[in-house]
Amino acid sequence: ARIDKGGYKHFMAKEIAEQPGVIGSALDHYLSDAGIEMPGLDFAVCDRLVMVACGTASYACMVAKYWFEQLAGLPVEVDIASEFRYREPPLSPASWSVFVSQSGETADTLAALRYTKEKVAKVVSVVNVSTSSIARESDVALPILAGVEVSVASTKGFTCQLTVLALMALKAAVDRGRMDADQLAAHLAHLRNLPGLMNHALLLGNDVARIAADLAEAQDILFLGRGPMYPLALEGALKLKEISYIHAEGYASGELKHGPIALIDQHVPVVVLAPRDALYEKTVSNMQEVMARHGKVLLISDAEGVHEAGAGVWRSLTLPRIEPWLAPVLYALPAQMLAYHTAIAKGTDVDQPRNLAKSVTVE
Ligand code: G6P
Repeated sequence: ARIDKGGYKHFMAKEIAEQPGVIGSALDHYLSDAGIEMPGLDFAVCDRLVMVACGTASYACMVAKYWFEQLAGLPVEVDIASEFRYREPPLSPASWSVFVSQSGETADTLAALRYTKEKVAKVVSVVNVSTSSIARESDVALPILAGVEVSVASTKGFTCQLTVLALMALKAAVDRGRMDADQLAAHLAHLRNLPGLMNHALLLGNDVARIAADLAEAQDILFLGRGPMYPLALEGALKLKEISYIHAEGYASGELKHGPIALIDQHVPVVVLAPRDALYEKTVSNMQEVMARHGKVLLISDAEGVHEAGAGVWRSLTLPRIEPWLAPVLYALPAQMLAYHTAIAKGTDVDQPRNLAKSVTVE
């Protein structure tokens, strides 16, 4: 079937708006009364995961590392495919390799997969295109069910990757005896809430557009996050660079004082991705360091977070409260919307940014 914009101005806007629906379908696909259905994946026999991907998919892997380690006690290594494949790292035979790719055709990721093939116990892929090379060459291929993604900048692909990786991490926790049936049910209920919470986040469009009109004037923008929000800071910065061509960097909040704070002045907007979680106080103190140097803080948090620390910030966006471990999936939406509206304000080609390809099938 021909894919059209369905009344939206850009595929990216359509794909951002589709997220509650496709995430609901992905959850339906993997969940049954018996629990999480992922045949061929018994994490009880796995020692370590080696996760490899490029671009946005590599940030999904970095978020998942926090989940596998914290929920399932399973050690995870994450690498970008172009480094991994030529580094030729030693791999233990009890480990599994996991390749995350929207297209399933990224040349470096495919080469990395082939490198691990005879060296690990199982090759797993998390892909959008089930007929792709990466899917075909894996022992187990898990579809993310995002539907066709046209816009070069990945949006629903990223959140669907995260959804499938979250389910994998929960399955790993159960298989490894780290989570009982009641705890699993509670976590799954939180996942089931995601589409509804995302619908709330999508209502922020007009607020985001107003903020983006100012961001479009900036030369440099920093994104900060801690824990699983750190990779989301990297993703927020990548999204913005890709389509608005504004220089942006993501940093772990705690690294601020080790370099990037030197960049802060009244011209540098700093996007702080900070749900009210166990480390919120620490993030607030990093934010105050930015404000003391006249940096313009955009705080993205929940109502309690904005209430507690919003005084003196340049702007804020309030999201519904979410279980902290799942916050990267929800907070991806305002990050995508910021990039989208900033690109609109700058008049760039949102769906086909210069110099970029949707799928990089050659080196
Ligand atoms: C390209 C795209 C990115 C994407 C990356 C990995 O660079 O522009 O949006 O994240 O490839 O693509 P994959 O299909 O492997 O997820």
